Amino acid sequence: MEEIVRELTEAYGPSGAEGKVRELIQERIAPYVDEQRVDALGNLIACKRAGASPAVGRLMLAAHMDEIGLIVSYIDEKGFLRFHPMGGVFPLTLLGGRVVFENGTMGVIGIERWQEDKIPPMDKLFIDVGATSPAECPVKVGDIAGFHRPFFAQGTRWVGKAMDDRIGCAVLVEFLRQVKETIYDLYVVFTVQEEIGLRGAMVSAFAVEPDVAIAVDITTTGDYPESDKMAVELGKGVAIKVKDSGMIAHPGLRRHLVQLAEKAGIPYQLEVLRRGTTDAYAMQVSREGVPAGVLSIPTRYAHTPSEMVDQRDVRAAVDLLLHLVAQPMELGG
Ligand code: CO
Ligand code: ZN
Repeated sequence: MEEIVRELTEAYGPSGAEGKVRELIQERIAPYVDEQRVDALGNLIACKRAGASPAVGRLMLAAHMDEIGLIVSYIDEKGFLRFHPMGGVFPLTLLGGRVVFENGTMGVIGIERWQEDKIPPMDKLFIDVGATSPAECPVKVGDIAGFHRPFFAQGTRWVGKAMDDRIGCAVLVEFLRQVKETIYDLYVVFTVQEEIGLRGAMVSAFAVEPDVAIAVDITTTGDYPESDKMAVELGKGVAIKVKDSGMIAHPGLRRHLVQLAEKAGIPYQLEVLRRGTTDAYAMQVSREGVPAGVLSIPTRYAHTPSEMVDQRDVRAAVDLLLHLVAQPMELGG
């Protein structure tokens, strides 16, 4: 599985420019699904039908393909690029960093003269692609850059940019590779534009009209120096979401996931996240409402160029999904 995680995290794919990631995934999942289609926004919707008919219902699983990025807003007379954030980008994570554009152009992030002890606002930063004028600049206003950072594995940890949410994509690809039997018609959706407002999930949930929906995404942890007091740690299992700032996970679905994990001996933790949400929010409020939940991969340093996960948690997420699709669920209230 490590190879797909490397490939997916190193791929270019900020919000609105997910094409390269989508191509990689399409190729990888082709042998394991009954059909795939791409909708008007760029969501990849793959379907794997239930082994026995009739299916118990439609289960939508979603992970977002996009990563946070920087969009060029202005090019000055010397060829320096100004930018706006695409999603939750923090200036602190940018200085001296390298970015890459869809056409392969690399850039480094510089800063105007600034007081060393203050965090610079975004508009004091610029991208330098080595150009000396707008005319010879290899990128244009509206082009989008993503972080450039190689993946590495060390011990049980995996580190890369865009673990949010390529690790979720990797979980779903690995799940599709391993899944033998499903009693549900599975709609595995690789969504676009999550980081700028869950837009891919909104339209794909409307199209799929699922009976139950689950997002696979990352969550932060409470296990590093001076971190938020949060009961999620790297290496302690897949996190089953209870609540985040956008949604309350369906209590019956959450209980079902916990029971499955306990019965199967899959390590899990319960997640209450102060800030942030996922595609499950959009799926939950689709149409007349959908029971929705989230399997989260605990991740340190989210929304920085080096996001860290633990492979044991990732494998636990895959295992839990495999158990989930093999048996019926009683959601209750
Ligand atoms: Co994110
Ligand atoms: Zn995410």
